[in-house]
Amino acid sequence: MANVARFPEGFLWGVATAAYQIEGAWNEDGKGVSIWDTFSHTQGKIADGSTGDIACDHYHRWREDIALMKELGVKAYRFSIAWTRIIPQGSGPVNPKGLDFYDRLVDGLLEAGIKPFITLYHWDLPQALQDIGGWANRDVAYYFADYAAVVAHRLGDRVKHWMTHNEPWVVAWVGYAWGHHAPGIKNTKVALQVAHHLLLSHGLAVEVLKDLGDAETKVGIVLNLSPVHPATESDEDKAAAHRNDGYHNRWFLDPIFVGSYPADMWEWFGQLVPEVKPGDMSIISRRIDFLGVNYYTRSVVKHDPQGGLLQLRGVHVEGSEYTEMGWEVYPDGLYELLVRLHRDYKIPEIYITENGAAFKDEVTPDGKVHDERRLNYLREHFLRAHKAIQDGVPLKGYFVWSLMDNFEWAHGYTKRFGIVYVDYETQKRIIKDSGYWYQKVIAENGVPL
Ligand code: FCB
Repeated sequence: MANVARFPEGFLWGVATAAYQIEGAWNEDGKGVSIWDTFSHTQGKIADGSTGDIACDHYHRWREDIALMKELGVKAYRFSIAWTRIIPQGSGPVNPKGLDFYDRLVDGLLEAGIKPFITLYHWDLPQALQDIGGWANRDVAYYFADYAAVVAHRLGDRVKHWMTHNEPWVVAWVGYAWGHHAPGIKNTKVALQVAHHLLLSHGLAVEVLKDLGDAETKVGIVLNLSPVHPATESDEDKAAAHRNDGYHNRWFLDPIFVGSYPADMWEWFGQLVPEVKPGDMSIISRRIDFLGVNYYTRSVVKHDPQGGLLQLRGVHVEGSEYTEMGWEVYPDGLYELLVRLHRDYKIPEIYITENGAAFKDEVTPDGKVHDERRLNYLREHFLRAHKAIQDGVPLKGYFVWSLMDNFEWAHGYTKRFGIVYVDYETQKRIIKDSGYWYQKVIAENGVPL
């Protein structure tokens, strides 16, 4: 068929989730308490007062969820491991039942012909480690590497794709500077130290995963990246956009791929910069095999002397479509980002590890979910990825966020990102129109035009 934007053979179409957002079973089989258990159990932290105690009950329904993925035809599944199931106190004794759960999940996926892609840290730090300062404490980086070793030792014979962290920017800024996420700390200086320890822990875990792996083992990290555009062509707005890019994108990309923090931002942050020990930057910049990119939107910013540390603020773009998260739908940003990453950082392989959108979904009397806007969102983004591949970007796969509706952090269950609808009362799953459309894309390995 000519009317299809065909992807390269072997392109990995996938779906993504994260442990705390879907598993539930928050205190079963020896699991320890994580900072998200604590946070969601604290009144006033989650928009709808909900918790992840049950979530999608995936801990008990994983077989059904694998069957769902098989029906969709997905080739790969990105999920995260709950550190507290493996090492309940963060360091010290290992909980065999936790390892068994992921062992069964991995076997189930492989039987269904689905490649497991594991994220080791998707935000659910053991509370016991928060009690000693969390990521502000340098020791936690070393505990993370120990945890990585335990998991790799058990699953590394079957799992070949590992991601150390998910979105360290969010962990540091939203968790430790603004306090909207667990652990709810509001201290910018601490946040920058946290970001450094996250990067350090990444580098330490890369070494562990590489050492325990074989020739097929590929290790990467997932960053949330957004192109930043100035609201006007004024020099001030352009400088503001460059700063926003510096703190959001380059602050993580440069250490990992260049081995240093961006000099302009180091200067801008002044007294707030983290303590960096000799040798840290070479650990952080240890060569990785791939970068995972989470892309949802762009930022458009304006210089504003009252705009806090960065002296800028985001602006609303007249005429643009926005999602339920208040994020602008901007597919061209994905193309721009991919081309830039390829040009500036010479990354060996790239995966889109998350892309998707929250819209108001409802089950109509026909028992279906007609989520046309999500379908359009995905199609437009897939087409920009296709264009980037044609222009030479080594994009190897694409994980839609998310397999199913789930606990959207501080928004609770109020935002639905799934291509599968979840009725939280009954735990019934309903494949949305976007899910059926994705099924066709995967079967064709291309986007119908
Ligand atoms: C990303 C997170 C993911 C999900 C999406 C909507 O920042 O990695 O868990 O919440 O946003």
